[in-house]
Parts: sequence; C-alpha cells; structure tokens
Amino acid sequence: MIKKVAILANGGDVAGFNAVIRAIVKTAENNGIECYGFIDGYQGLLKNEFERLSTGEDEMASGILQKGGSIIGSSTNANVFNYKTINEKGEVEYKDLSEVCIENIKKDGFDCIFTLGGDGTQKSARDFSTRGVNVIGVPKTIDNDVACTEITFGYNTAVSVAMEALDRLHTTGETHHRIMVLEVMGRYAGWIALESAIAGGADVALIPEIPYDINKAADKIKERMKEGKTFSVVVVAEGAMPAGGTATILNTRDNGAGVDNTKLGGVGQIIAKQLEELTGLEARNTTLGYMQRGGTPTAFDRVLSTKYGAKAMQLALDGHFGVLTVIKNGRLDCVSLEDVVGENTEIGAVSGNTNKSNIRKVTMEHDLVKTARSIGISFGD
Ligand code: F6P
Repeated sequence: MIKKVAILANGGDVAGFNAVIRAIVKTAENNGIECYGFIDGYQGLLKNEFERLSTGEDEMASGILQKGGSIIGSSTNANVFNYKTINEKGEVEYKDLSEVCIENIKKDGFDCIFTLGGDGTQKSARDFSTRGVNVIGVPKTIDNDVACTEITFGYNTAVSVAMEALDRLHTTGETHHRIMVLEVMGRYAGWIALESAIAGGADVALIPEIPYDINKAADKIKERMKEGKTFSVVVVAEGAMPAGGTATILNTRDNGAGVDNTKLGGVGQIIAKQLEELTGLEARNTTLGYMQRGGTPTAFDRVLSTKYGAKAMQLALDGHFGVLTVIKNGRLDCVSLEDVVGENTEIGAVSGNTNKSNIRKVTMEHDLVKTARSIGISFGD
C-alpha cells in the first residue's frame, strides 16, 4: 500500500505542467495518499527540497489548472547521474550523485516518484527504476519527440501559439508583399513546424527530417508570385538543415554530460536572407522562442495533462512502476521506461531514429507529411 508520493517536474517548461500536478494530487487525495513536490526537478531531489501539495483552500495545488509554468519549478541542468561539481582545487568534476537522491527518497518515505519530463528526464527515471526506486513517468515536451507515445503534454499549446503567430504574419506579409519566416522550436524533431504549417496555412515548411534545398523552397515562392501572390509564409524548425549540411547552433553550454548541451537557433534568419536573394521579395524573420512554452494550456492540453496525471496515480495505486504514461492508438496506456529510452533498435526504427536514441521524429509516411504535400506545402525537397 502506498501512502506518500512525490512529483518532480524536469526540463524546459511547458503549458500543462500544473494540470498534471493537479490531477496527480487530486487522485492521490481521493485515495487518502499524501502528495509532495520536489522543488526544481532533480535538483530538489538531490538537495531534498520539497513542499506539501494539496488542493485545499489556499493550498499550493489549488487553482492551478490554467496556470502556465510549474508551481514546483523545473530544472534543465540536473543530470544527477553525471552531476557537475567543483572540487577543492576549483576543477570541474562530474559525479554520480544518484545514491544521495535514493537515500533522500528512503529517508522521507516516498513510496513513488512521478517524473514529469522529456527523454532526458525519463532516462534518469529509468536509471532510478533499475536501482529499485518506484518511478512513474509522464511525457512532457513541446517538441513532441518522446518515443512510444503519440503525443506529449505541452505540444498542442506550442502548436496553437505558432499557429496564431502565423495568422498574424500572414496579414503583415500580405500588406507589405514580403516573405515572412517563422522559426519555431522542436530540437531535432519537426512536429511543431509541420503541424503549425498546416494549421497556419504556410507555403513552405522546413523540418530537420527533410533536409532542404533552398532553391526548391524559393521555387515554391516564385510559383506563387507567378499566380500574383506577392507574399509567402515560411515555417522553419530550429533544427532544420540544408541537404548535406548541419543544423544551426546558437551556442553550446555545459550543463553536465548526458544532457543536450547544444542550443539550436538562427536558421530562420539565414533562410530569410537566402529567400530574399533568390526571389527578389523582401523577407523578415520572426523567432517565436519561449512564447511556445509559457502561458496557459489549450483545452486539449488541459485534458491530456489531466488524463496523464490521473493515469499516473492510478498506476501507482496498482503498484505498476517503471513505466511511462502514453497515448497509444488514441488510448491512454503505459509502456516500460526501458522501451521509451533504452537502446531498442525496433522502437528506434519505428520512431525514425538510430538505435542510440529513441527520440520520436517525423516519418515520411506520417499523415501530416502526406497531408502537407497533398495541399502543396513545400518541404524544400
Ligand atoms: O525541449 C524543449 C525546448 O523548448 C526546445 O524546443 C528548445 O530547443 C530547448 O528546449 C530550449 O532550451 P532552453 O530552455 O535550455 O533554452
């Protein structure tokens, strides 16, 4: 019988973090279980900093469904299995501090830890699970690139924000006869760019999974010019790359080993300049950035997050640990964390990736790609 559980939110924030927290807490309360939240993700687990979470009047988890961000914070630089420390000589030293976390969990008597996060977060969750900790993961990221699930929470809100930006870029682009480029996030996956291009009526969508030829993208715009359309809208995923080239890196950082230290960005500006030269139309770039992560979740994300949170707590009640809540064939389900982040070649192949990583990428057979091609959106290929 579980009595006491804790939640941690980790990685870049998304709209829907709080909706998941609320659903876990409410389901826990309805079953007489005490709920806590570690502050700032795995950092809080390491430092043993946590707060009681309850939905009573004026309590921390009350009135948070529509709230952006995470009431318990989140960390993007805490790989506790390879943690960056400074030794007495002032040198950087990487240490496995997972045992400290496990001791904290035992000492505080937590029967289960819910890990809300993307693939990096779930890798650590899997590693805690193999060391005997009861863990249940919930798939979070605006990038929608977690393996084994059809959708992550936060993604739908990011797409909606990008769609609204495209609507606005349309009117200003049309007025000034310009090419309007929108750079969206997504890391090495093109889901946000692809889906917002369809929802926002873009003419060109450049995504990492389909390396582009800028001349082909320009051809699409020239075709439109021949039809008398003196403006065009282009969506570029931050990870987009030219055929034979690489993604544009804004900078690199040192958040420790085993985490993504590459900050992508800048490709939108490059594309805008190239398209201007190739078409003769003026071009402007807008980088949407953190607008995609902040603010209130859409109705879809509130419902998805609530489903995920309730399911996660139900799994804990059933004693079903070491899993990630997922949507599979449209249904709420769960899969083992090992399947999600392990080196499973079969799953890697299905998610369009290598056997080293299961990040879920856009595949050429996906309905969204076929739909986009069918209505004439150019991928620059
Ligand atoms: O993974 C989510 C995400 O928003 C990516 O789309 C983006 O590349 C990255 O995080 C930005 O990370 P940071 O918050 O460290 O700038």
